[in-house]
Amino acid sequence: MPIYVLHGVNLDTLGRRDPAHYGVITLPELEGKITEWAEELGLEVDCRQTNFEGQYVEWLHEASGSADGVIVNPGAWTHYSYAVRDALELLTVPIVEVHLSNIDTREEWRRISVVRDVAAFTVMGKGSDGYREALEYLSKR
Ligand code: DQA
Repeated sequence: MPIYVLHGVNLDTLGRRDPAHYGVITLPELEGKITEWAEELGLEVDCRQTNFEGQYVEWLHEASGSADGVIVNPGAWTHYSYAVRDALELLTVPIVEVHLSNIDTREEWRRISVVRDVAAFTVMGKGSDGYREALEYLSKR
């Protein structure tokens, strides 16, 4: 089964957001890299993005029984969405939380991640390379 790579709110605007935090990569370019890295590691990925929290939650529900692992970058939902957190909590497959920027060194409100403790592993502040690390982690599980 594939690894779901689920991008949340505003991540479709990568390439137009502050390059100091997110670099200049667009989401299609990022998903292209993720797909290549996954192939190198012998993994299959299913990459998706939505700005709708309910859709994101439904994909997490779908992941039960359809995915071997989940990589999530929920964007700003990371900081306050108990709905996303509760949906993640239902999963029995490994969850990796990825952030392009280092949320622990940014604004006070960004330092809170309501999903951190349901993730098996968190990578942040490494830009697109963080996704490679997430895939490597899952390939060893
Ligand atoms: C982000 C960090 C979040 O604080 C922000 O709201 C995002 C992207 C990151 O990848 O660094 O949209 O998750």
